[in-house]
Amino acid sequence: MVPVADTESSSVRPAAHADEPPVADLWPSDVDEVEAASLVRPGADAAERAAEAALRPRTLAEFVGQRVVCDQLSLVLDAARGRGRAPDHLLLAGPPGLGKTTLAMIVAAELGASLRVTSGPAIQHAGDLAAVLSSLEEGEVLFIDEIHRLARAAEELLYVAMEDFRVDVVVGKGAGASAIPLALPPFTVVGATTRAGLLPAPLRDRFGFTAHLDFYDASELVRVLVRSAGLLGVRLADDAAAEIAARSRGTPRIANRLLRRVRDWAEVRGDGTCSLAAARAALEVYEVDVRGLDRLDRAVLDALCRRFGGGPVGLTTLAVTVGEEPETVETVAEPFLVREGFVARTPRGRVATPAAWNHLGLVPPGPSGVLFQ
Ligand SMILES: Nc1ncnc2c1ncn2[C@@H]1O[C@H](COP(=O)(O)OP(=O)(O)OP(=O)(O)O)[C@@H](O)[C@H]1O
Ligand SMILES: [Mg+2]
Repeated sequence: MVPVADTESSSVRPAAHADEPPVADLWPSDVDEVEAASLVRPGADAAERAAEAALRPRTLAEFVGQRVVCDQLSLVLDAARGRGRAPDHLLLAGPPGLGKTTLAMIVAAELGASLRVTSGPAIQHAGDLAAVLSSLEEGEVLFIDEIHRLARAAEELLYVAMEDFRVDVVVGKGAGASAIPLALPPFTVVGATTRAGLLPAPLRDRFGFTAHLDFYDASELVRVLVRSAGLLGVRLADDAAAEIAARSRGTPRIANRLLRRVRDWAEVRGDGTCSLAAARAALEVYEVDVRGLDRLDRAVLDALCRRFGGGPVGLTTLAVTVGEEPETVETVAEPFLVREGFVARTPRGRVATPAAWNHLGLVPPGPSGVLFQ
């Protein structure tokens, strides 16, 4: 057994601020199982992804928000269309649920090109990728989701394909093996990643344009909700849309998910209309609070403030207190709490900010460290 120290997560890291990884890198998309337990986690399981298909905007004009990215993207696409050539390869980076897959589909649709879809984890060997590449037709868009999870050998094959439109097909084995170059027609790779920092530089450099998607503000989420309600045939009151948007963590996927649950409540216990009262009642049932925190998030804040006087407290201690694995607290609950300024990560451990105390209805400790509550 490795002895557990309170400041374990910071003390094992050598760099001065290495205990504060960039927030963008704290959004793993591969924790879907844990996320499924809560309504406000950004990942999605297969069933949800299927339900989402009906709500995807199909054109840039329909795509809500991300004005800068959409502007830049429309320039790239217009220019390529004008030249009658496939555009540069495009990389879409950002946390789960912000619209990367949606944008990839829009790119293909706007170009009038067909879309091939694959993903890093689906490509186990370089040969899998070679097969996909060698069957591409001119102008096609190849969408590689979770591109940071490509196998190393496949990555190297992709460098050459993206730069020289060539794939080297290896014939034979061992010393007698030889590579036969196969020319590929011009095509466009659209890569998506939740972890841009994990992409090796040579791969990143082969994208002519990288779009960084940001969290949406409340008014943009209201527009997402109004649009989705229209598509689903749901009556959604303006104040209910604002209430749901405020609890959606800046993420359209979560907004759409909360809307579906509010609709359930309205149909089963209400009069079918998603009113403000219905939204509040439904989200109370699902334990999503006014800022979009769920039970685990609140348990973490509660432990930090009430049990440890606001910290600093080590990750393991905190996790034991809320009855979860340290990894769950670190990857599932903490990113949002840090992003929203409820929790700070310091070299000595996690600390509750005054916003955390206020959110729990408590008064932060005074300058002398004395609690007033
Ligand atoms: N800008 C937007 N306007 C309207 N709806 C959006 C927008 N962005 C995302 N959505 C909706 O949110 C849902 C999730 O979007 P999408 O699947 O594109 O996210 P993602 O970034 O690919 O997530 P992941 O990293 O988990 O694959 C979809 O149903 C989509 O319709
Ligand atoms: Mg996606």
